Amino acid sequence: MSLSCNDAQPCSLTRFLIEEQRAGHIEPDLRLLIEVVARACKRISIAVGKGALGGVLGEAGLPGAASMNVQGEAQKKLDVIANDVLMEANAWGGHLAGLASEEMDHSQPIPDEFPRGRYLLLFDPLDGSSNIDVNVSVGTIFSVLPYAKQGQDPVDADYLQPGTAQLAAGYCVYGPQTTLVLTVGHGTHAFTLDREVGSFVLTTRNIRIPEQTAEFAVNMSNQRHWQPPMQAYVGDLLAGKTGPRGKDFNMRWVASMVADVHRIMTRGGIFSYPLDAKNEAKGGKLRLMYEANPMAFLVEQAGGAATTGRQRMLEVRPADLHQRVPVFLGSKGEVEEAGRYHREHD
Ligand code: AHG
Ligand code: MN
Ligand code: MN
Ligand code: MN
Repeated sequence: MSLSCNDAQPCSLTRFLIEEQRAGHIEPDLRLLIEVVARACKRISIAVGKGALGGVLGEAGLPGAASMNVQGEAQKKLDVIANDVLMEANAWGGHLAGLASEEMDHSQPIPDEFPRGRYLLLFDPLDGSSNIDVNVSVGTIFSVLPYAKQGQDPVDADYLQPGTAQLAAGYCVYGPQTTLVLTVGHGTHAFTLDREVGSFVLTTRNIRIPEQTAEFAVNMSNQRHWQPPMQAYVGDLLAGKTGPRGKDFNMRWVASMVADVHRIMTRGGIFSYPLDAKNEAKGGKLRLMYEANPMAFLVEQAGGAATTGRQRMLEVRPADLHQRVPVFLGSKGEVEEAGRYHREHD
């Protein structure tokens, strides 16, 4: 029997994490924290899977009085349920100092009755909300940051660390399969939920995103709102074999970032949500701290690249918990191409 698990000898997330701890890649407390998050994702997966039978579809709040989040979006019932599951699962474990979420105006310190840990957890509890009611893949995204000040309540400012400070990041995609994709800074690995056994099983160690691609993901309906670099870049993608890029590109857009990123993890591609006339005042559509940064960490650890078009994502200095950014991530060669158009057309 081999000492560590591999593709030929699959193992549970639990064993994988213990081996990562023995290799000196993670502290015991971080291992336990990831276990708690994975357990919460299992619960969310069960709730998502029940659909209409579980009464979890549709909008939160009372009829005619939608409940709005800090983003100005009407919350879905599952946005609220997933947020509650993650909050409850993480409150009492003793590994965290505080949590922050897309669905909460401010970060929350761990309640006084529980011990405090040395980590901060940020999450997008349910990504791809617009897909819930139509039975299309959704997901959860999370990011773990260090917290050094013992004996003090963490406040929003303590979370404003660049993506390079992340100790772990992951997402769970609730699709035909439930898959957890995780990095602790030593490669990106995928775990498929074995629904009968109830545990995540390592199914791909060391995901590698192909460096070149002929597939892009963008919401084309925003084309008329884009700025000149994006107009030029996508214009050349659409020009096909006889255009300046010299090849035909295919397009996919699930409208759940987790599902679009998961496709890129599997077969390559570039995902983009650029600045446009509709989101310019906010700085972009997607959120830096619990969408762009964790995905950027995962993608870089899989050999890909992630930028704002102008800067490496993980080096952006955050100024606000709910800060938004333009996003380009995926196959390294293509993300570099998108950056070149930004330099040449700005
Ligand atoms: P969320 O559901 O967490 O608010 O995130 C939605 C995001 C992301 O998942 C997706 O890539 C994008 O919004 C879809 O945007 P469009 O509605 O413009 O397609
Ligand atoms: Mn939302
Ligand atoms: Mn999201
Ligand atoms: Mn969300």
